[in-house]
Amino acid sequence: MKKRFKFIPVLAVAIMTVLLIAGCSNSGSQGGLSIGIVLPTKDEPRWVQDEARFNAALEDSEYTTEILFSQGSSAKEKENVETLISKGIDVLIIAPQDGPAAGSAVEAAKEEGITVISYDRLITDTEAVDYYVTFDSIAVGKEQGQYLIDNTEGTGVPLYLYAGASSDNNAFLFFEGAWSVLQPKIADGTFVIANSSEAEALKDKAELSRDEMGKILGQITTNWDPNEAKNKAQTNLTAASAELKGDVAILAPNDGTARSISDVFGSDGDVTSYKITGQDSEKASIQYIIDGKQSMTVFKDVRTLVTDAMNMAVTVLDGNTPETTGSYNNGSIDVPAKQTEVIVVDKENVKEKLIDSGYYEASEFTGLE
Ligand code: BGC
Repeated sequence: MKKRFKFIPVLAVAIMTVLLIAGCSNSGSQGGLSIGIVLPTKDEPRWVQDEARFNAALEDSEYTTEILFSQGSSAKEKENVETLISKGIDVLIIAPQDGPAAGSAVEAAKEEGITVISYDRLITDTEAVDYYVTFDSIAVGKEQGQYLIDNTEGTGVPLYLYAGASSDNNAFLFFEGAWSVLQPKIADGTFVIANSSEAEALKDKAELSRDEMGKILGQITTNWDPNEAKNKAQTNLTAASAELKGDVAILAPNDGTARSISDVFGSDGDVTSYKITGQDSEKASIQYIIDGKQSMTVFKDVRTLVTDAMNMAVTVLDGNTPETTGSYNNGSIDVPAKQTEVIVVDKENVKEKLIDSGYYEASEFTGLE
């Protein structure tokens, strides 16, 4: 009998310790980490912008958060998610490096009862995504395509197509949006496709299937890598005949790739002029726009996306259901989504949209009127 009683305090202490640890790791407000944020790479200014905006938004937050970067690797991404799980997060905000590959990482999070918010890029082919916070990516592509239509003259204008990485669902949405406006103008001869036999073969088709887009992307992808974009542009221009030079139009998917493609076209003596798109409003591209080396960018106000994601996370932490405005099918389920509009920026309105709005400081640029 005596012996039995002796064990009780030891057992009680052990049980209490377990409960305490469990309590800490389940509730961020009791000392653990509340929100974990995983972003694709520090190598692109786009995601460094997001980090800065998250940090600014978090300054006054009562919840603890940590931001980790995956540096272009799905393995690193999985490791990051595991680290955050072990720190006791309740909400995971994640922009996947690779849409389908991120599935197993978020499934591990879901198993721990963590709410998963897909940020900017949709995680595909898994049920383990609770919400999606995004810009209107179809609109991004539409604006890029429409800009080329509105800012080129005549017919038979050579059109160079470039796209993002096929592992990123957004790359398809951007291309789909661009194709929806460009295709009729390709079909009627306003534009002539200069660098994709797959796009040429599909030029009479208004709506493309995912597989068809995949074939085109296979030829025109930059993998979101400015160096790959540069090499592809060089290869394309080396192969191009004289009638595919002169005054040309270039669909570049984002700012990082636009700048390197622009450098290549700008140094080709047979290219008289070029209109080139972009997106993200990266500082370097704003300078390119001021200097006339990039025609436009699509401004995606990261402050709004960050605010939406954080509001969503805090609503979940407070035990409530976040508001959504629609849904996106990720190949497995319809993910409730909150979507933000985008703004076209070019030389005409760059000051109004990016400086007067307080997004950037005028002193960060030269030659701004
Ligand atoms: C984002 C873009 C970004 C690109 C490359 C996309 O998913 O929406 O803003 O430029 O990835 O990182």
